[in-house]
Amino acid sequence: VTRKTVWIGTNWKMNKGPAEALAAAEALKSYHPPEGVKPFVIIPFTSLQAVAGVLKTSDVVVGAQNMHWEESGSWTGEISPEMVKECGADIVLIGHSERRQHFAETDWTVSRKMAAAMRHGLRPLLCIGESLEEYDYGVTDETLARQLKIALHDVAVEDLPDILVAYEPVWAIGAGGRAADTDCVARVHTGLRRVLNEIAGAEIGARVPLLYGGSVTQDNARSYVEQPNVDGVFVGRAGWNVPDFEKLIDRII
Ligand code: G3P
Repeated sequence: VTRKTVWIGTNWKMNKGPAEALAAAEALKSYHPPEGVKPFVIIPFTSLQAVAGVLKTSDVVVGAQNMHWEESGSWTGEISPEMVKECGADIVLIGHSERRQHFAETDWTVSRKMAAAMRHGLRPLLCIGESLEEYDYGVTDETLARQLKIALHDVAVEDLPDILVAYEPVWAIGAGGRAADTDCVARVHTGLRRVLNEIAGAEIGARVPLLYGGSVTQDNARSYVEQPNVDGVFVGRAGWNVPDFEKLIDRII
């Protein structure tokens, strides 16, 4: 596959406490991806600082799984953008469907967090995706357009090439999910590109990386990256084991 930059990341979700995470980071730090590939790992808070320290001088970019949008204050159990930054993260995941579903994240909170990430010099990785019901009712495109437009509402147009967007259909994620077929992903991503062009103009719209996530494996990853308007993949389970993650990347290119 010849193209610009291909982003390939894994979201560790609620796995790997500090000791296990450190061992995984040590294993990852000498990994050199093929040219043009940017690997990234999205780490739970308690392991973030240790992993970011180990991977600081590596080719692997490190991110957090969430954050609050306020600077500080009475927000028990929350982590501020500065705290995330201080731990050494470059990326922050915003609006993962598991957070929207189980932790009451809304388009509004996602939008606040996107703006906060930009303010603090973090690269937001925005997740959007329709539920199975929305898919069945045939409202995928409008659902995604709504999520995208609200999330990007308070991000300056010229900053949009610094963000990442992952399309993760809720029905495709996790053990109960099934991977979306490549035609579906190609069609949806073309629609997302259209929305980005509408928001930002074609020149900037074309530079916003669009990733696919949901049951990506070593066997199917390449078929997504080959599609027009797919600039990478965002992996869960298939990336939790370090050698598997490296193999997944090596098999794409
Ligand atoms: O954030 C990535 C994720 O939601 C996909 O998970 O396990 O289906 O690859 P998985």
